[in-house]
Amino acid sequence: MGLSLDKDWWRQAAIYQIYPRSFKDSNGDGLGDIKGITSKIDYLSSLSIDAVWLSPFYPSALADGGYDVDDYRDVDPKLGTLADFDEMLLKLHEVGIRVFVDIVPNHSSNRHIWFQEAIASEPGSAARNRYIFRNGKGANGELPPTNWPSHFAPSAWSHESTQGGKGNQWYCHMFAPEQPDFNWDNREVHDEFLSTLKFWADRGVDGFRIDVAHMLKKDLSEPLQDQDKYPGLTNRKPGQDILFDRDDVHEIYKEWRLLFDTYNPPRVAVAEAYAPAERLARYASPEELGQAFNFELLEANFNAQEFKTVIDRGLAAAKSQGSSSTWTINNHDQMRPATKYGLNPTVDRLRWKNSGGTTHPLDEVSGLNAAIAASMLIMALPGCTYIYQGEELGLFEVLNIPEDQIQDPQYLRNNKADKGRDGCRVPLPWTSSGSSFGFGDGKAHLPQPQWFAEKSIEKESHDSKSPLSIFRTALKLRSQLIAPEELTWHETGNKHILHFSRPNGWHCITNFGGGYYDFMGLLGEKAEILHSSQPLTEAGLYLIHGQISAADSLPPATTVWLRLPQ
Ligand code: NOJ
Repeated sequence: MGLSLDKDWWRQAAIYQIYPRSFKDSNGDGLGDIKGITSKIDYLSSLSIDAVWLSPFYPSALADGGYDVDDYRDVDPKLGTLADFDEMLLKLHEVGIRVFVDIVPNHSSNRHIWFQEAIASEPGSAARNRYIFRNGKGANGELPPTNWPSHFAPSAWSHESTQGGKGNQWYCHMFAPEQPDFNWDNREVHDEFLSTLKFWADRGVDGFRIDVAHMLKKDLSEPLQDQDKYPGLTNRKPGQDILFDRDDVHEIYKEWRLLFDTYNPPRVAVAEAYAPAERLARYASPEELGQAFNFELLEANFNAQEFKTVIDRGLAAAKSQGSSSTWTINNHDQMRPATKYGLNPTVDRLRWKNSGGTTHPLDEVSGLNAAIAASMLIMALPGCTYIYQGEELGLFEVLNIPEDQIQDPQYLRNNKADKGRDGCRVPLPWTSSGSSFGFGDGKAHLPQPQWFAEKSIEKESHDSKSPLSIFRTALKLRSQLIAPEELTWHETGNKHILHFSRPNGWHCITNFGGGYYDFMGLLGEKAEILHSSQPLTEAGLYLIHGQISAADSLPPATTVWLRLPQ
């Protein structure tokens, strides 16, 4: 199967996120690798996806799961070589799967050659000017230059002495101290990233996911100013915040678009950016990256009205820029949705997670049903659907990682106040037994719980009612049902039900409530049931609906797809 040259291939793609270090280990060192991905192309192919997005696989000391990049144009030797990458790319392309790589342009790692040069150079030197170095405040410069906060530490400034610098300056890092921020007011930084994008695009990479795309530009005019309130935007106009979502960041992406459009088909990109929907749309314009992640569903509870509001807003925002929307309910930074939806919405999830899941009960059945229902709902929406590895297995968050094995800086750098994101990054269970559940021959780099045996790809592949089987059927159908990017809502008279259709008669109904919903009675006999997120013939239905045939009703936390004649 070759790849089409259709320049719009991405608009309604199904994209599967691979967290490479936790996908498949081919050499038994406990870390997933590139050859591991290549060895599982049949599996990826069986999911009927259009593309994979690889989280960073570059050389890295893993201060932040690989988002601390030592070299943007290489593969971490622990994960393989560029030749392995080329082989993987070729084989994925052969089965019709395109590849996105993750670009991390806000910061490098402290081991990047540029940062090493900067630390060894004088204040004011060209080498330092690629990053953000400043003198400190206080009589002897002993205080950070501003109050800017970091995501993983109290201050966004570290003294250069912590990195072996001999001078008395501070450098800026909006994430961990091992992740120094680039100075995007420096033309050299622009040119370097254009070269990196070209490097991967020339190799045949189809698209790019842009890490924290809203943070590259900062107000670096002297004197640097304190941030009023994190995350800012208090007394400054939108677009003029000191640190986030500044208007001038868009110049960068306009330049990138010129490069993307020199390829056939043009390379595509999706922004990871946090900004209000109407401002997010600018990143997604055809003159810039083309798409931006819509993260609002990550915040939403499994609630019909919350979902509808987000969907309407997302579709309108994407349309306003000629983009298509993106839909996702999880990624490598988020609590697994089967866990999230299984908790009472009033529970403070962070505190619950930190307690090891002991403060409140988790309703695993409802949570899992809701997660699969939500996945099938977003698959039916106009736009792209993103699936995070393990979502198709219905994995729960892993809660009991021993403290001495936690890797995430969110835990290590924040006074251990938040157990962090490792619970959704535990290596995949490929088999129900054996060393690291088939992940590799060695011990997995994060401990896998015993319940993974019940959730393995091997086991779920043999169960026609498993989450994996439901996903496989859904994604295959989706690839056949793709319709023009429009949606019509249908009034249901029930606040727990969302019902929409696409122009080709593809209907999607989701029951967010606790009762049963008689959808066939409303749609009539001509409706053909295509697929559902759980069987529609639950025994309990007979008790509730008496003589009504079981398939006529939609159980709680279920999505059904139907086709109606046009
Ligand atoms: C967003 C990434 O998704 C996250 O994993 C990472 O920690 C930060 N950006 C910093 O690169």
